[in-house]
Amino acid sequence: MNNQRDRIIIFDTTLRDGEQSPGATLNVDEKLTIALALARLGVDVIEAGFPYASPGDFEAVQKIAEAVGTEGGSTICGLSRATEQDIKTAAEALKPAANKRIHTFLATSDIHLAYKLKKTRQEVLDIVPEMVAYAKSLVDDVEFSPEDAGRSDPEFLYQVLERAIAAGATTVNIPDTVGYLTPSEFGLLIKGIKDNVPNIDKAIISVHGHNDLGLAVANFLEAVKNGARQLECTINGIGERAGNAALEELVMALHVRRQYFNTFLGRPADSTEPLTNIKTKEIYRTSRLVSNLTGMMVQPNKAIVGANAFAHESGIHQDGVLKNKLTYEIMDAESIGLTNNQIVLGKLSGRNAFRTRLKELGFDLSETDLNKAFLRFKDVADKKKEITDWDLEAIVNDEINAAPELFRLELVQVSCGDNARPTATVALRTPDGKELMDAAIGTGPVDAVYKAINRVVNIPNELIEFSVKSVTAGIDAMGEVTIRLRHEGRIYSGHAANTDIIVASARAYISALNRLYAALQQKDVKDETPQTASV
Ligand code: KIV
Ligand code: ZN
Repeated sequence: MNNQRDRIIIFDTTLRDGEQSPGATLNVDEKLTIALALARLGVDVIEAGFPYASPGDFEAVQKIAEAVGTEGGSTICGLSRATEQDIKTAAEALKPAANKRIHTFLATSDIHLAYKLKKTRQEVLDIVPEMVAYAKSLVDDVEFSPEDAGRSDPEFLYQVLERAIAAGATTVNIPDTVGYLTPSEFGLLIKGIKDNVPNIDKAIISVHGHNDLGLAVANFLEAVKNGARQLECTINGIGERAGNAALEELVMALHVRRQYFNTFLGRPADSTEPLTNIKTKEIYRTSRLVSNLTGMMVQPNKAIVGANAFAHESGIHQDGVLKNKLTYEIMDAESIGLTNNQIVLGKLSGRNAFRTRLKELGFDLSETDLNKAFLRFKDVADKKKEITDWDLEAIVNDEINAAPELFRLELVQVSCGDNARPTATVALRTPDGKELMDAAIGTGPVDAVYKAINRVVNIPNELIEFSVKSVTAGIDAMGEVTIRLRHEGRIYSGHAANTDIIVASARAYISALNRLYAALQQKDVKDETPQTASV
């Protein structure tokens, strides 16, 4: 392998670094759903988790390795610190995958060495080849990351990388862990590595970077120009603190400006060959899925996938676009899968039409899930005349991908209005099967519903974010509610869609409470096991 490849490898870390976003915790089924979507998107390497971190992480990586890591598909990767136990656990979880990669890391900056690792440079120079060689004895494909490379002494970095490659690393990943570098500095760092690591032609240079200064994508593009051939990114740019470089922005920058980037990859300038394997038409759908499941909302002005990314407000712009799209648009909304929201089904549509359209949209549901989704579709179609692709997607995401229903909403009823005291009654089925009912008065109907739910569930929490938006246009549109709540410093999210926004609000809240409840149960298990670690 050499690093002069003329294609960019897309390494997605939504399920590992992305899941480190506060409140973005996903359960195993949700991780599997996202992994399947990433495979469909055409991601080359899926970093599925950090198997040693917790039994839940181990299970998720193993299930993804089994279900998504099939022959000819994406490589499944597991993160590990540079320790035997971590590496062994990662190899174990990855076993079912046809193509598997262990990604091991150790910090190289003096700050991390002195304060976090309490190790000397010599110790790092000894540990890295030993652990890379150990990983190599378990899998063929080994990636090594010198954490905080962006703030490491370049001369020391070159030595560490040379040893990692000599010990068998086939990818060396250069993280700007704290999002500190500027584009030209990052470019120069990659150039320095290419010029000064003697065996660098035996490995792919990868980059990983955080968005603390909003520079991650720009940094990566400069890295590509200087020889990086793998980009580590996340859907919607989620991740630790300000997040990671956003996959959709990198891919579309390389796609829209491929003629600019072609020459840096040794291609003819006018080549129209795609620079990545990503099926760009899957971008929008994957973005919505990740946003719904993680509860991490996409800001309206977010590049590529924000609600306003293809909207033209000013009269001058609208006039120009009507005359010729090229006046104000550099890419077509359809290229990321934003269709014209066609009306596809109605209340008379049968199960076959429903199944066929879902298949066309890429949802391959089991018979049980299809039945559940179909019942929900019929219910929505009774209230809403025309069901669009976005509605179908919201129904499936809501019905099939929801967090486990430990508490289940059986009834919600509100009374509110001008000069009235908003009052709500709720009935919930508890995890042990009892039906409990309670009522409360609030400042508004949603507040009353949440207070009534709290009286039943009785887990103290603080609601920190509540947002409602419509799935489609129209007075009968479904409303999507996303909420985030905090309990003992941790954030939990919930999401639900319904034609009645009070019902959606209640279900979103219960979905977040279910995550919180599940975490409390897991915490009891975790407290008994020493197998916990964090990056
Ligand atoms: O930001 C970072 O340095 C990381 C490493 C584990 C690659 O996430
Ligand atoms: Zn990171």
